[in-house]
Amino acid sequence: MPTADVVPDSSGTPASGVESQHDEWYKPSAGVIERAYIKDWEALARTADADFVGFWEERAKELIDWHEPWTTVLDDTDKPFFKWFVGAKTNIVYNAIDRHLKTHRRNKLALIWEGESGEQRSFSYHALNREVSKFASVLKALGVKKGDRVTIYMGRIPELPIAMLACAKIGAVHSVVYGGFSTEALHDRIEDSQSRIVVTCDGAFLNGKVVELKRIADEAIRRAPIVEHVVVVKRTGLEVPMEEGRDMWWHELMSLPIADWRCATEILDAEDPLYMLYTSGTTGKPKAIVHTHGGYQVGVATTLKYVFDLKDDDRWWCAADPGWVTGHSYIVYGPLILGATSFMYEGAPTYPYPDRWWAMVERYGINVLYTAPTAIRGLMRFGEAWPNRRDLSSLRLLGSVGEPINPEAWRWYFKNIGKERCPIMDTWWQTETGMLMITPLPCVNLKPGSGTRPFFGQQADIYDEQGHPVKDGEEGFLVLKRPWPAMLRTIYGDPDRYVEQYWSKFPGVYLTGDSAKRDKDGYYWIIGRVDDVIKVSGYRLGTAEVESALVSHPAVAEAAVIGLPHELKGQAIHAFVLLRHDYTASPELAEELRQHVGSEMGPIAKPEDVKFVDQLPKTRSGKIMRRVLKARAQGLPEGDISTLEE
Ligand code: WTA
Repeated sequence: MPTADVVPDSSGTPASGVESQHDEWYKPSAGVIERAYIKDWEALARTADADFVGFWEERAKELIDWHEPWTTVLDDTDKPFFKWFVGAKTNIVYNAIDRHLKTHRRNKLALIWEGESGEQRSFSYHALNREVSKFASVLKALGVKKGDRVTIYMGRIPELPIAMLACAKIGAVHSVVYGGFSTEALHDRIEDSQSRIVVTCDGAFLNGKVVELKRIADEAIRRAPIVEHVVVVKRTGLEVPMEEGRDMWWHELMSLPIADWRCATEILDAEDPLYMLYTSGTTGKPKAIVHTHGGYQVGVATTLKYVFDLKDDDRWWCAADPGWVTGHSYIVYGPLILGATSFMYEGAPTYPYPDRWWAMVERYGINVLYTAPTAIRGLMRFGEAWPNRRDLSSLRLLGSVGEPINPEAWRWYFKNIGKERCPIMDTWWQTETGMLMITPLPCVNLKPGSGTRPFFGQQADIYDEQGHPVKDGEEGFLVLKRPWPAMLRTIYGDPDRYVEQYWSKFPGVYLTGDSAKRDKDGYYWIIGRVDDVIKVSGYRLGTAEVESALVSHPAVAEAAVIGLPHELKGQAIHAFVLLRHDYTASPELAEELRQHVGSEMGPIAKPEDVKFVDQLPKTRSGKIMRRVLKARAQGLPEGDISTLEE
């Protein structure tokens, strides 16, 4: 490969006890390093490690504008309730939009969007500001005030980021619910956040079909009477009932005088909440992670600039859904703060043909593409003829997030999409971390399947059950040892659970919920979740929520779900169901239960299969032992079953 910019290099000597893949190296060429913003990882890592607070303070000055400076960079007097940039005044929208209007970026494209059926819309920073400001004025006219929660439940259309930014502009807290979720999932999230306003669409296009979002929202709101107003974007033209006095069309509101584009950006405290985002943890209903204006903007801007090396004339495509944290940080806030051009696509990657993504890379001249292993595996199965038909020469860097990337998918992505020129940034992070945490940089030597090392200023470690660091090559609990600016501040309405879930197992360090290994080179290898979280196609789902959807069906007495390996999805959901006595097991009933979960939770939560059982393995205190179900399903040893009741 004479023209390769990243060179495979297997000269390392295998260490005993570490698998051979741990010695498959890819080294960036001098050209890649030359172009990169950070050329020497080691030097900056040393400086940041010696003074991580100082490192973040420098970034806050370099990348962000503040209305008033901070008095303290990091306040840890009330840990784990850390505060960053205390005393500073700011608003993330000022940095994402307002400040660019005074520069050459005013007429630069902020957002380019392509609909599934091929139509295009684009917004300069000037145009984006008008839309955001107008919708912010509309929200105000509907009575939304600083600190109020607004639920956003939409397809992937420009009005979604516009609604998010409009909330942030006036100090309201957005709570985006993924458009693939369904009635009960949406209802729980509206209820928990006590949102009086819901922003939705008539429907969303996906894979040539229409998802009836308004109908689902209506049903969820019927169960959550707190909602006073529903703003509906007309996207599909689907006939939808509009409730008099409650429901209003987006386009009608935006054409009224109340939609004033001269709307001031609220000046907020750095620690004021920006958004909440629901995610699943250990037990019970999903809880909302809270992020703030101040530290979050510093964290996302720094990581996007350093890791994805975003340049002013770049076209950046984060192919995630805006409804998940990846979309919040790296479709919306990060790229806009850096003044970049962010591309967003509405539909399915294979619609109408499996080269849709590659056609768009070519059409828009995308320079950096950030996606998930499940998408790569999904596209890989159609073969390389599809990407080979397209000109992908604009690509400079690639990214991966959401689950461990298997080395085969890594190599395919590297070879067929990046043409062996583009380093792959395998970024490990979480809804809770707000920003990339364990990640390479373009100048770093890569190993397929490893996220390499913690980002500047962070220290990670791997602990055993007792909280002692394990030896290199051994598996254990991944922990983070230092606070970081984009860290979650709490769980909405449940500070005790925040302390309990993240800071209690090993006092003083943040528990990620993942298991991992570190190799002899200090590289981290994520193995997967150690709690009751299942990653289906990179989407994070909790066993408890799927089980409660199953139990809400009249036939089900008890249910347990587990995640098992799946070739495309990474993991798939398998359900074990105990029926009520007057029901009999049948394939039809299994299918009915799958559909029921689909309509309560959403299609991604539909179990792969439903097995009827007479008994579920439980501890003597009555807790379902999913670990045992999982071992049995895979024909593996059941481990310690001394507490099993059967
Ligand atoms: C997993 C997504 C391996 C991990 C940004 C984590 C990963 C969970 C990677 C968070 C990666 C994310 N390699 N595993 N590069 N990135 N994960 O909150 O298990 O939806 O705890 O945030 O995804 O999922 P979440």
